[in-house]
Amino acid sequence: MDASEAVLDDTVLNLSGEGADEKELDASSPFFVSKKAAAVLKHAILDSYVVPFASKVGRYAPDGRVVYLDSYAGPGRYEDGTPGSPALILDSAARIAGFRQLDCYFIERGRRSYRSLAALVEDARSQGLAAHALQGRAEKHLDQVLQRAAGSPLFAFLDPFGLGLSFQALTQQIFGSRSAHGTTGRHATEVLLNFNANAVRRIGGLLTSPKDTPGKPATLRAMDAACGGSWWREEFEASKNNTEAVARITTGFAQRVARTVRAGYWTIDVRNRAHHQVAYHLVHFSRHKDGLWLFGEAASLAQVAWRRACLPPPDEGTLFGAVDTFDEEEEQRAQAWVRQISQNIERLQRDLGPFTIGDRQAEVLAGVLGQARSKHIRAAVKQLHKDGKTDCSGVGDVRRLRITPPR
Ligand SMILES: C[S@@+](CC[C@H](N)C(=O)[O-])C[C@H]1O[C@@H](n2cnc3c(N)ncnc32)[C@H](O)[C@@H]1O
Repeated sequence: MDASEAVLDDTVLNLSGEGADEKELDASSPFFVSKKAAAVLKHAILDSYVVPFASKVGRYAPDGRVVYLDSYAGPGRYEDGTPGSPALILDSAARIAGFRQLDCYFIERGRRSYRSLAALVEDARSQGLAAHALQGRAEKHLDQVLQRAAGSPLFAFLDPFGLGLSFQALTQQIFGSRSAHGTTGRHATEVLLNFNANAVRRIGGLLTSPKDTPGKPATLRAMDAACGGSWWREEFEASKNNTEAVARITTGFAQRVARTVRAGYWTIDVRNRAHHQVAYHLVHFSRHKDGLWLFGEAASLAQVAWRRACLPPPDEGTLFGAVDTFDEEEEQRAQAWVRQISQNIERLQRDLGPFTIGDRQAEVLAGVLGQARSKHIRAAVKQLHKDGKTDCSGVGDVRRLRITPPR
């Protein structure tokens, strides 16, 4: 998880965070046969974020309606029946149907993928859910969906294989069409996007390649459009290796979007295995502190699902497999996080005096951002209380805990 910086309402927050290519892959592609660990992470985030998001922002929305857009939707389910993002979200929509209307728009360009997506959507509609499948390019349908979202909160999931919507479409069309002043309730606007590290490595490689491959200038221009300028070229050339280039360009992109639309952001690096290179970053933009806090919780929970998905298959000849030790290792991780958070809180207390946890999310979680969550913060506060280092007992809403010295 890389630490990065985000600006939200003039408050500086320090937050951070598949191996397919841009060419169109259809429902028949091996990519959609079964899910890789990297997809487990993104789906676990969607699964644990969209329901609390819709529940919260939909409270002040007309008819409790919240719009969800998945503009690179895929077939909806993998061939083995595992839910893709559309099936997952339709399931979320069904779970909250009693008190929120999640109005879902799914866009898919590939013909075969669209066919299975449309069947899934039709089924959801027959169960009374508000769902729409649109065939074609995301760019073609974007305005229409944004019109439908006017006056309602919007969550957009942009998950292309390679380069997705342009910087301009993201900042001016999506965020620009929404109120930047009222950032809560019906005006809430959030985007979760897949910023593809493979694309950065491959397209960046063209800059240093002596070969004059056909299409090279157009590919570089497409990257300029995605990044909002050619600044990324210098970043790539100034990096000592691809890992650094991916980190610098992802952060540069997130910072530029965040500054332009006045939002905070998270970047979460996603791999298929702990020792693999980053496949992509999930970048989340929210104009509200609550959204950023909630997203941190969802990201932390999703990491547990991801670590589980990375376990080797059981029965590889060992008496005690990795599965048996998983819970124990999770516990050890949690203890290390709690120690780190305790040190962070002690340092903040020394530097700032009394402070409220929710105002210092990034500093409280420094070093364990995107990994640890509220329950680890609470455990740290309770331990500090027990050790006589704060008067705060750690009981109550974690964000509201006020760290004060012992009396
Ligand atoms: C990474 S897959 C989506 C996976 C899906 N979001 C999930 O999590 O289950 C990207 C999809 O975008 C589609 N696609 C590619 N370019 C597109 C475009 N310009 N507009 C809409 N869909 C596009 C591809 O056909 C592919 O199905």
